[in-house]
Amino acid sequence: MGQVLAIVSQKGGVGKTTTAINLAAALARRGNKILLIDTDPQGSVRFGLGLSGAATRVGLSDYLAGTHQMNEVVRTTSLPWLRVVSAGSVSESVTHDRYMRDLSESSRTAELFERARHRGYTVVVDTPPGLGPVVHRVLACSQHVLVPLQCEPLALQTTTQILRGIRAALTTNPGLVLEGILLTMVEPGNPASERVAKYVREQLPHGLVLDMSVPRTAASIDAFAAGQPVVLRAPDDPAAQAYRALAEHLAGRLG
Ligand SMILES: Nc1ncnc2c1ncn2[C@@H]1O[C@H](COP(=O)(O)OP(=O)(O)OP(=O)(O)O)[C@@H](O)[C@H]1O
Ligand SMILES: [Mg+2]
Repeated sequence: MGQVLAIVSQKGGVGKTTTAINLAAALARRGNKILLIDTDPQGSVRFGLGLSGAATRVGLSDYLAGTHQMNEVVRTTSLPWLRVVSAGSVSESVTHDRYMRDLSESSRTAELFERARHRGYTVVVDTPPGLGPVVHRVLACSQHVLVPLQCEPLALQTTTQILRGIRAALTTNPGLVLEGILLTMVEPGNPASERVAKYVREQLPHGLVLDMSVPRTAASIDAFAAGQPVVLRAPDDPAAQAYRALAEHLAGRLG
């Protein structure tokens, strides 16, 4: 039986999608059977993975609306062990109301996650920023949660909210495990960035911030723009190495 790992953060733009894509690709490269699900109606996973074909325009929102079945929304990728469910047609529509309602109220969300788990997938879930109804629902259906935190001044300000949200999710889903906080976009050699990283580690409870952190690199930006995970496009890049280390660390924990 596979496990579900949600990637969540209070703030936008902290590297959730980059983490989801690279972690999923790194786990798949080491032979783990992975299903990456994009629950963010912005639908960035599709672009980050370069899935531009018409086929990837249907996805989660279409499954939730009942117009498509699971086998019609699970897509293959260039990696044999990596399958993807993109956000679907919601990412091209002006309003997200129907999707938000379907995802947070319909039993099909939990059903999709459970069916994937039964098929032996480790499910990696990218989410929209904040603790809205989508993230609530995802956390209710997950066994693990990872919180990327961008290494910038005031980084800690939003951390209390997300930790409170995860604690609230634990009351209805006691099986949920917080895997930790992943520092992202750290700038080695930049004293301000190093100061923030040190401060965050000192202020948060011991062991909460993961040992590995993801540096800000030009290759990460290039890879995202080119529609490829940096772990595949530039495996020697320090950000790629960090994501491989994260995959190694989590692989054991995800079973
Ligand atoms: N390690 C990194 N080095 C350099 N740039 C990065 C790195 N990680 C992410 N970025 C860039 O930062 C921006 C935000 O990243 P990303 O889209 O992954 O964040 P997000 O948390 O998913 O955002 P949103 O909340 O909008 O969904 C992107 O342009 C991405 O290419
Ligand atoms: Mg994103």
